[in-house]
Amino acid sequence: MEKESGKGHKVLLMPSPFQGHITPLLQLGDILYSKGFSITIIHTSFNSPDPSTHPHFTFLPIHESLSQSEASSMDSLRLVDLINSRIKQPLKECLAKLMLSKEDTISCFIADATLHSTQSVCDGFELPRLVLRTGGAASFAVFASIPLLREKGYFPVQESRLEEPVVELPPLKVKDLPWFETRDPELFYNLTSTIFDTFKASSGVIWNTFEELESSSISNFSKEFGIPIYPIGPFHKHHFPKPSSSFSLLTPDTSCISWLDTKEHKSVVYVSFGSIASITEAEFLELAWGLAHSNHPFLWVVRPDLVRGLEWLELLPDGFMEGLGGRGCIVKWAPQEEVLGHEAIGAFWTHCGWNSTLESICEGVPMICMPCFGDQKVNAKYVSDVWKVGLRLEGKVERVEIERVIKRIMGGDDERKEIRENVLNLKEKVNLCLKEGGSSYNCLNALVNYMLRL
Ligand code: UDX
Repeated sequence: MEKESGKGHKVLLMPSPFQGHITPLLQLGDILYSKGFSITIIHTSFNSPDPSTHPHFTFLPIHESLSQSEASSMDSLRLVDLINSRIKQPLKECLAKLMLSKEDTISCFIADATLHSTQSVCDGFELPRLVLRTGGAASFAVFASIPLLREKGYFPVQESRLEEPVVELPPLKVKDLPWFETRDPELFYNLTSTIFDTFKASSGVIWNTFEELESSSISNFSKEFGIPIYPIGPFHKHHFPKPSSSFSLLTPDTSCISWLDTKEHKSVVYVSFGSIASITEAEFLELAWGLAHSNHPFLWVVRPDLVRGLEWLELLPDGFMEGLGGRGCIVKWAPQEEVLGHEAIGAFWTHCGWNSTLESICEGVPMICMPCFGDQKVNAKYVSDVWKVGLRLEGKVERVEIERVIKRIMGGDDERKEIRENVLNLKEKVNLCLKEGGSSYNCLNALVNYMLRL
């Protein structure tokens, strides 16, 4: 496939305004740019990406009037719902202007899957809309089954049934279902079903996953939905002619890399729960003591809002870090891809957000899973029980259990060896799928051809 095949064609992309969604969308922009397309990012003013990280793109803000304080006053489901209703009018106005320009042919609009309201706006302009699914295929299949699971009584999820199997979706148990703690379960059902309807109405789905990782979920989706799908991931491992620059809403603290340089090969546990998840004060303390008692070096990302209502580290007992004698490093935000690729990292204790899961697999790093909400629970199940590349932290977050699981994953016994072998095997599959003739390589060429015909 010609590098310049998309030349003269413009693609419009719109992210959902959250870190775990903006990053893969910008990476997709880079991939399409490498195929010659010109890239325009239409984005909300809330959590706006920084245009200087991608000077080769055009950035067009729309003004949906959502403030940080309004956003932080509601749960994530209500926020997604509000964003969908607020973007409709300004997006219409933005597209009306763009469609008048004769500069480039607009091939299509690529929207994050959660931005369902973009479908009717695009329909109004007869503009083909492709969907970007930033999460995995297995979790999507579970979201797709929500009406059935609800009918069978699994939803809302009840504490007393967590260990029961979900017979319709093996090997999941009730605790693995993508439930969100919300005061408005109806909103959860309505939102997921609207997102599905607009998936089906779209011209196709671009997926940040790869065939070898999720083949059965991908092929079931193809059969059921009958729209073209393009699993071309992992996005961040594509080879860009121009190196892809990362984008973070928070500034990464790169001092942790020189700290890692002082540590032995595969000795450090990296701990991070992504950009949204929060924990309680009690959990924070259990985590700190569990890490301290494990006797392994650790790099821990404590975002300022990780524990709601706190400034940052004031809960740590006086002298806690000093007492570790340089064994611990805490930062507010890390350059995660670089950290996971560092030879000192031995395991990743993660909330199993899809980006973190993929990044860990790509670097061959075994995981400790502590899912918090939504797709993370399904991802954790696949990490621990299907791909067998990690261990799940079971039950309540308690220091004794944390110490035990860290020792299991960092130890030298057969369990650790098997997990390591499995993750290295998947890492190798990542390398192959992106090479000429590999599944994601071929799928990307098919996607480009498809976009040129739209
Ligand atoms: C959200 C959802 O929570 C997740 O379940 C869904 O799959 C995607 O959207 P988030 O919780 O932020 O994402 O997790 P994740 O998908 O793992 O994305 C976090 C991103 O932030 C990753 O790309 C990671 O590399 C980056 N990150 C995280 C940093 O760069 N530095 C950090 O310190 C922590």
